[in-house]
Amino acid sequence: MSEGISQPDAPVEREGRAKGDLFAKFDDLIAMREGLLASGVEDPFNLVMEKVLSPTRAICNGRETILLGTYNYMGMTFDPDVIEAGKQALEEFGSGTTGSRVLNGTYQGHKECEDALKEFYGMDHAMVFSTGYQANLGIISTIAGKGDYVVLDIDSHASIYDGCAMGRAEIVPFRHNDIEALEKRLKRIPADAGVLVVLEGVYSMLGDVAPLKEMVRICKEAGAMVLVDEAHSMGFIGEKGRGVAEDQGVLDDVDFVIGTFSKSVGTVGGFCVSNHPDFEIMRLVCRPYVFTASLPPSVVATAATSIRKLMHGSNKRAHLWENSKRLHGGLKDLGFELGTETPQSAIVAVIMPDLAKGAQMWEALLKEGLYVNLARPPATPANMTLLRCSLCAEHSEEEVSTILGMFERAGKAVGIL
Ligand SMILES: Cc1ncc(COP(=O)(O)O)c(C=O)c1O
Repeated sequence: MSEGISQPDAPVEREGRAKGDLFAKFDDLIAMREGLLASGVEDPFNLVMEKVLSPTRAICNGRETILLGTYNYMGMTFDPDVIEAGKQALEEFGSGTTGSRVLNGTYQGHKECEDALKEFYGMDHAMVFSTGYQANLGIISTIAGKGDYVVLDIDSHASIYDGCAMGRAEIVPFRHNDIEALEKRLKRIPADAGVLVVLEGVYSMLGDVAPLKEMVRICKEAGAMVLVDEAHSMGFIGEKGRGVAEDQGVLDDVDFVIGTFSKSVGTVGGFCVSNHPDFEIMRLVCRPYVFTASLPPSVVATAATSIRKLMHGSNKRAHLWENSKRLHGGLKDLGFELGTETPQSAIVAVIMPDLAKGAQMWEALLKEGLYVNLARPPATPANMTLLRCSLCAEHSEEEVSTILGMFERAGKAVGIL
């Protein structure tokens, strides 16, 4: 641990805690946070965007800042057609549905959004949820119940783990992106059991891509169903932006694709698409779909418009790849340690020596006028502290050069370079 941040070696008990205070379980985390703030750095988990100027610029602390830590990969948040669709739906259908999809909460716009998804993926069924988190929670918990098995990559997103916990299936984790480990786990599962394998296209912490081609083949040989979460690849990876499964030629063998509107689509919401002939029954049995209000009309209108535009986004996809290669190559040349050897997605993760240095570097970059995400355990693998950079198709070549200059100055200032 670097100077200035006191990280407790042993469990800390907060002074004055009342007996039975259920918050006692957070004492270590509270001490860590207080130690971090006592070192004088700005709270990296409490930044306010005072004004958002474009997909790549915002005012933070009164200063114009380049955004390199949003999931706005395709820059759709300020697309004029998307904004217009949202305004029109707001005027024509009001601000909210005030009901569940299975009662009064299915409007024409929800159907149009599901039609856009079916067309985007070339699949028979699409189901829109209120968030991507709920899509994983709902689909996984509903199809994999007690007595079934869910085999998943150990670095899976929290919503995947929570879906498993809610469904009470047996969880069988395997080492991150390890094809042999997946195969071994599958072989140990009783032959007559129901098995769902859950994979992600791009893993969001390091920005690395899964070897879906081999993994999906192994799953199919074992008779398992496969769900792929393409949250960080939809819109960008694959010829038509359908994700890593498309890129590696296995989309037809995937049983369920999960995605979100909160990244490339540029709004909020989640979805599952599938060719399973009985998929529509999900609408009646999936609790995180049934027992919550549906998305507001303006949101589904912006999502549908954005998804349809993403179908024709090949120029933006090509530019985003250029940005990713330029940033990855530039940071590597400067001497930073990165999460992947080569650029694999729109995420470039810079590995920090520890949380203290990570927070100092994050603050130094913010002072330069650059926002990135500071990520720390438990969200990160192997206890790493990361500065996660996520690129946007709207970042210009000059902006990427400016960003590299900022990293160089900040890295020298905090003694990482
Ligand atoms: C892999 C993955 N799945 C699901 C989600 C949840 O998406 P949402 O923000 O729509 O809830 C995320 C969000 O970061 C994610 O990274």
